[in-house]
Amino acid sequence: MDPLPLSPQVFSLLAGLVEERTGLHHGLDRRDLFAERVSTRAVERGLDTLLDYYYVLRYDDPDGAEMQHLVEALVIHETYLLRELDQLEVAADLLAERARAAGSARAWSAACATGEEPLSLAMLLDARGVLDRVELVASDVSGRALARAQEGRYGPRALRAPPPPPLEPWVDRWVERRPDGLVVRRELIERVRWRRVNLLDDAARRALGAFDAVLCRNVLIYFADDAARRVVQGIVEQLAPGGALFVGVSESLVRLRLPLECVERGGVFHYRRARP
Ligand SMILES: C[S@@+](CC[C@H](N)C(=O)[O-])C[C@H]1O[C@@H](n2cnc3c(N)ncnc32)[C@H](O)[C@@H]1O
Repeated sequence: MDPLPLSPQVFSLLAGLVEERTGLHHGLDRRDLFAERVSTRAVERGLDTLLDYYYVLRYDDPDGAEMQHLVEALVIHETYLLRELDQLEVAADLLAERARAAGSARAWSAACATGEEPLSLAMLLDARGVLDRVELVASDVSGRALARAQEGRYGPRALRAPPPPPLEPWVDRWVERRPDGLVVRRELIERVRWRRVNLLDDAARRALGAFDAVLCRNVLIYFADDAARRVVQGIVEQLAPGGALFVGVSESLVRLRLPLECVERGGVFHYRRARP
């Protein structure tokens, strides 16, 4: 299907609305991809122009269901098991220390996509003997991604490299490696509380409570600075005393000019609320 025509004015209206609701920024460099995906959805809705589709989204979508359809078409779920493992190891160490000292700890994978991130963290917590003392929450804006997460079935590429030898027994314990892909054991999937949360929805985010470690990795890169600032500020307010925020290794929060402290541990950086 050829995309519907997208004038610069309508692109600006539609991309602006998507950014306002989800934080997702589409610059001119992504205009063709945006036009393609929005057109597919507009045509499914039986609309002839993208301006009509904009009017539906803006004025005829009281419960946000149409915006949710569009978001499902726009988000990128790229992720894999044990991604950026050094960070996950440090997060698991911090959570284990907290769980041993306080009896329990809480962790949040804040844009978990198809679930590989929280499931990896769960395996690392098990390797430290604290899985039953850490409450794991995983959320994403995409209901489709969350449904896949709860199936726990992945292609062979979900494990890009063999796990390092000390981790091998834990991966073998929880992940069945079949010739056609990977199957995660149900018990591990059920250790995680899966929630659909738009990070820009302050009330939904706050309702998740306070956390000792938050992984918000490889999502802020898709946000404009204002949205990223708002989300990070909100997450930081949800950190328990001494709690840590991890962003992707190629992401930096310095540009956001927020009162954060950047902490290094074992060569891995994370953020904490700055001391007053
Ligand atoms: C590239 S994946 C990152 C997955 C994982 N955190 C990792 O680092 O491997 C980005 C995820 O962010 C989610 N996302 C995008 N905008 C969001 C929003 N406003 N609220 C919550 N999740 C969002 C997407 O649905 C997608 O699953």
